[in-house]
Amino acid sequence: MQNHLNDGFVFRYKLVGSVEYIKSGKDQLFLSKMVKICCIGAGYVGGPTMAVIALKCPNIQVAVVDISTARINAWNSDTLPIYEPGLDEVVKKCRGKNLSFSTDVEKHVAESDIVFVSVNTPTKTQGLGAGKAADLTYWESAARMIADVAKSNKIVVEKSTVPVKTAEAIEKILTHNSKGINFSILSNPEFLAEGTAISDLLNPDRVLIGGRETPEGKKAIEALRDVYAHWVPVDRILCTNLWSAELSKLAANAFLAQRISSVNAMSALCEATGADVSQVAHAVGKDTRIGPKFLNASVGFGGSCFQKDILNLVYICECNGLPEVATYWKQVIKVNDYQKTRFVNRIVSSMFNTVSGKKIAVLGFAFKKDTGDTRETPAIDVCKGLIGDKAKLSIYDPQVNQDQIQRDLSMKKFDWDHPVHLQPMSPTSVKDVSVVWDAYTATKDAHGICILTEWDEFKNLDYQKIFNDMQKPAFVFDGRNVVDAEKLRKIGFIVYSIGKPLDDWLKDMPAVA
Ligand code: NAD
Ligand code: UGA
Repeated sequence: MQNHLNDGFVFRYKLVGSVEYIKSGKDQLFLSKMVKICCIGAGYVGGPTMAVIALKCPNIQVAVVDISTARINAWNSDTLPIYEPGLDEVVKKCRGKNLSFSTDVEKHVAESDIVFVSVNTPTKTQGLGAGKAADLTYWESAARMIADVAKSNKIVVEKSTVPVKTAEAIEKILTHNSKGINFSILSNPEFLAEGTAISDLLNPDRVLIGGRETPEGKKAIEALRDVYAHWVPVDRILCTNLWSAELSKLAANAFLAQRISSVNAMSALCEATGADVSQVAHAVGKDTRIGPKFLNASVGFGGSCFQKDILNLVYICECNGLPEVATYWKQVIKVNDYQKTRFVNRIVSSMFNTVSGKKIAVLGFAFKKDTGDTRETPAIDVCKGLIGDKAKLSIYDPQVNQDQIQRDLSMKKFDWDHPVHLQPMSPTSVKDVSVVWDAYTATKDAHGICILTEWDEFKNLDYQKIFNDMQKPAFVFDGRNVVDAEKLRKIGFIVYSIGKPLDDWLKDMPAVA
């Protein structure tokens, strides 16, 4: 196939407001042929991102490929492999038109002009940098495959979050075996958050594209910028050098996670002093230099990226001879671990210093609402802590099934971040954990309730009915500050809310991590 991206006339149309016009007759020729994009990795990022590109760029053919047959089958079915509000609609509109999902990785890569790579970049579990550095195994194998199958020039886009300077290594892999083919590497990190992925993609705060400062690099940046310019205002498309783009992604996640650890650190002090963390966060966030978002105290942050990316940042700092900077960022994770431990200790100490044999209802297991994703969810550490004290858990989450919860509670640290088909198939199930399909079954006869995800439905449960069916005293430990604590106290519950003035009951039983 003729390469369309480096022959000087591709993507030369511009967007003015919402009106698309064509600059030259040559473009007309190009636009009548379809540009082909391929994305390696059909996960939480690859799937939604490519679906939105397909939706907004009907003139571009988009193929999403993966080595996991189960994942690809799910993308081609009525039950998509991930739960994300609005995703079904976008996929249904484009699938079978300009959007396809396939396991034929090599064919689609060979045919593409632009190849996005959105594969897993887990934390290394062994060898140099174990427990901190990013494991680039999947990225490297994708790059080698691209080099092997390419027959025409390609733009290769880093979509995965990677250590700064990864593009240099990828470039070496690609050009070492290039057979005269020209590869331009771009860094185009993704900033979407799960649960709001589609709206984040449709209306991003910014799109970041980093490339080489050479004529070819600039051309490649322009080509990718013109894809996004189909729907993103050009002033929100930031173009930088490669290293700034790679580092900005790690920096953005570190800054976001730092806000949560900052407010969570304050929550411990609020409990000790009688201040209310919501009032403190509101007052602090009113300063426009600080801003109100991302200041909700919680049982701790989870998700597939914050911890992984900060560990990666810490490792990069250490490798660059900056131990003080490494220690600074490491503290964000330490406070997060402290918050989870503090929560477990609070439960155990409140319930007469033991939860052995007691039924605890766990409401919510996903790492945040509006997703079924459980990667690094704080629920894993909290449940493990309670199981360690011999509690009997009854878990309910509207989007997470029994199999996933059992896998999460039995998997080794960091195992979750490998392609699904490489994870342990049938882990031994964890005793004393049952998974149920509604909050009332979970809480029946329970001694205590832990709310670990802020699902909206937990705000409006019939707590009087729940109270009537529980053992007494009945406890609620709200790890997300979603319930109306005063209302629950009136019913008779003993309520713990993160960072809020404590019930007298709890004051006498201080929980220290
Ligand atoms: P994911 O695990 O959901 O998806 C990755 C997919 O890549 C898997 O389906 C896996 O089977 C596939 N894969 C791995 N190696 C492959 C290969 N050689 N060929 C073909 N397919 C291969 O991961 P994700 O959440 O989509 O994250 C991907 C990257 O994006 C990570 O680097 C992550 O840090 C970053 N990121 C994630 C988010 C998020 O919200 N999840 C947001 C921004 C950035
Ligand atoms: C985060 C970033 O927000 C995205 O910009 C980034 O692209 C992504 O990581 C990534 O690189 O993977 P995500 O992890 O999907 O997105 O979800 P967030 O909304 O950031 O929530 C992360 C965790 O922090 C959740 O457990 C959430 O409950 C917790 N959180 C968030 C709080 O405890 N308090 C808050 O105020 C906000």
